[in-house]
Amino acid sequence: MDLSGKRIVLGMTGGVACYKVAELTRGLVKQGASVQVVMTQAATQFITPVTMQALSGRPVYTDQWDARIPNNMPHIDLTRDADALVIAPCSADFLFKLAHGACDDLLSTLCVARPMMLPVLVAPAMNVEMWQNPATQRNVGQVKADGIRLMGPDAGEQACGETGMGRMLEPEQLLEEVIAAFQRKVLAGKRVLVTAGPTFEPIDPVRGITNLSSGKMGYAVARAAREAGADVTLVSGPTALDTPFGVHRINVQSAQQMHDVVISRAEDQDVFIAVAAVADWKVANVSEQKLKKTTAGDTPALQFEQNPDILA
Ligand SMILES: Cc1cc2nc3c(=O)[nH]c(=O)nc-3n(C[C@H](O)[C@H](O)[C@H](O)COP(=O)(O)O)c2cc1C
Repeated sequence: MDLSGKRIVLGMTGGVACYKVAELTRGLVKQGASVQVVMTQAATQFITPVTMQALSGRPVYTDQWDARIPNNMPHIDLTRDADALVIAPCSADFLFKLAHGACDDLLSTLCVARPMMLPVLVAPAMNVEMWQNPATQRNVGQVKADGIRLMGPDAGEQACGETGMGRMLEPEQLLEEVIAAFQRKVLAGKRVLVTAGPTFEPIDPVRGITNLSSGKMGYAVARAAREAGADVTLVSGPTALDTPFGVHRINVQSAQQMHDVVISRAEDQDVFIAVAAVADWKVANVSEQKLKKTTAGDTPALQFEQNPDILA
């Protein structure tokens, strides 16, 4: 569990993406984190505190006058033993509040009252025009300058039906970002090239020879390097795995293709990690047409030649 023992305050503001944060909460809890949810009044219009309490296993706070905290100051106490403050979704309005130090509800006051060493991660979620608005962009610039880390947003189709920048990252991407925030950035500024997965050597247009490599090891290495701050390129044979968030993936099929991509990129890398299961041989006489069974019952006469050695 990557977040074992971590205490996360999860602030939710008013946006449709609140439903995705239900899934993020499950992910954080599954990874071992304790999650203290704090919601703005607008957030409670999109998802109920009941749902968030059920998923986090803790009472949810929505009101700065909440008397459940012994000293009646949730805006102070809730962050005092926290390891990170995550705001997801973060509305345009809340970006403004963060940028200006507003203190007119529990979540905004809690942000201003947080210990300055507490890492703050913010996942903006809004309509494309709201995101592009110069006022929002000014606020984004200010919160970044204040040391607050932005996760996304992404571009794509939006709940309102428009398309563009402003979509919140997916829950699994946010989870990777939160996990990454706790890793020491020992590879910051380094470029890392990783190969992963099997290769596929064609016999004809529909058949080929491959191996049982899952690619999991190389993908895990790429993910860990990225979490450690590296700029990671993953050269992958055919796998069904999702690309680790923030990793640049180049798909290849054959050993020759993997070799060519690696050679073309190797020079400007600091680290090369070869985890792929690369075929030693390829078929020398690849058929341009699909090989067919014959009535005579003969079998294809495949000839092999060695693949280039990527590590040589
Ligand atoms: C249906 C609906 C969807 C909304 N979605 C968003 C959104 O995705 N992002 C956003 O910034 N504001 C959105 N808003 C506007 C915010 O809810 C509004 O600005 C609110 O005051 C934010 O309050 P808060 O920052 O205190 O949570 C939406 C409003 C409505 C009615």
